[in-house]
Amino acid sequence: MKFDNKITRMLGIKYPIILGAFGHAGKADLAVPASEAGGLGIITSICYPTAEEFREDLKRAKAMTDKPFAVNFTLWKDMIDNAFHEEYIKVALEEKIKTIFTSGYDGSYIGGIFKKAGCTWIHKCAAIKHAKIIEKKGVDAVVLVGKEGTGYKNEEQHTTMINMTAARRILKVPLIAAGGIGDARGFMGALAMGASAVYMGTAFMATKEFNAPDKFKMKIVNQEITDPKNIKKVYNMKHGIPPSFASGVIESVPTIKEFIDTIIKEAEEIMAEFKTWGMAD
Ligand SMILES: Cc1cc2nc3c(=O)[nH]c(=O)nc-3n(C[C@H](O)[C@H](O)[C@H](O)COP(=O)(O)O)c2cc1C
Repeated sequence: MKFDNKITRMLGIKYPIILGAFGHAGKADLAVPASEAGGLGIITSICYPTAEEFREDLKRAKAMTDKPFAVNFTLWKDMIDNAFHEEYIKVALEEKIKTIFTSGYDGSYIGGIFKKAGCTWIHKCAAIKHAKIIEKKGVDAVVLVGKEGTGYKNEEQHTTMINMTAARRILKVPLIAAGGIGDARGFMGALAMGASAVYMGTAFMATKEFNAPDKFKMKIVNQEITDPKNIKKVYNMKHGIPPSFASGVIESVPTIKEFIDTIIKEAEEIMAEFKTWGMAD
C-alpha cells in the first residue's frame, strides 16, 4: 500500500507513522530505527544535560541514517521558559535539522525561529482550542493527543476520535492523531477519521530498541485493559507518565522495524476486508 498525503510529502517519509517525543529515552538509538523503517523518528532535546551532548547525538543520527528525522522541544514544567531551549535551538539550526516539533506550552516562539530558517514546524497539544491558536501562529501541522493517550493532560481534552473527526472540520492544517494508538486498526481508524498520520508513544516503549528493562516492557504487554486502577491512572494522570490504553493492543516486544512492518501489513489486510464486505467483521 502506498501512502502519499500531506504529511508523508511534508516530512519526506514512506509511512505516516511518527515516533513520539520521549524525555530520557528519545535519543538517536530510538529515533533512527523509526526513520529507517519508513516512519519519522524524533530526537527529544530535553534528553540531553548539555547542548553539546545533544549535538553529538544529532551528528550520530545523521551518520546512522540518510532518512529524515526530527527534533522535539518540550515546553513543560521547568522547561516552559524559551530561554531554557536557546542553546539547543542553536545546535538544531547549526546541524540543519529540517523538521521540529514543539509540545506542551505555546511553541510559537521556537516554531517561529525554525520557520524563518525554512524548516517545518509541528506542534503537539491536547486541546482543540490550543490547536486553533497555534494554527493562527503559522504552524505546519498539529498533533492532537486524545484523553486515552499518555502525557500532559488538559481539562478540555477530547478523545482521539473526537479530536480527529471534529477538529478536522475546524482546522485547515494537516492533523496527526496521538493517544491510544498501537496497532493497524488504530492506525487505519485514525486515517479514516481525518488524520494524515499517527504519532505513538506507548507502543514504541514496548519495542526492543526502547531503553528500559524488559520487565517494564512486559508490564505493558501484560497490562489488563479492564484494570480499574490503571483506568483511573491514565485518565487522571497527575504524576509520572504511565503507558496509555494503547497497552491493550500490545502483545509482544518486537523491533521497531517489525512493529512498523506489521502495522503496514495488517493495514493492507484491513483494506482488503473493507473492499470485500464494506466493513470489518
Ligand atoms: C515515558 C514517556 C515520556 C514522554 N516524554 C515526552 C516528552 O518529553 N515530551 C513530549 O512532548 N511528550 C512526551 N511523551 C508523550 C508522547 O510523546 C506521546 O504524546 C504519547 O505517548 C502519545 O500517547 P500514546 O502513549 O497513547 O501513544 C512521553 C510519553 C511517555 C510514555
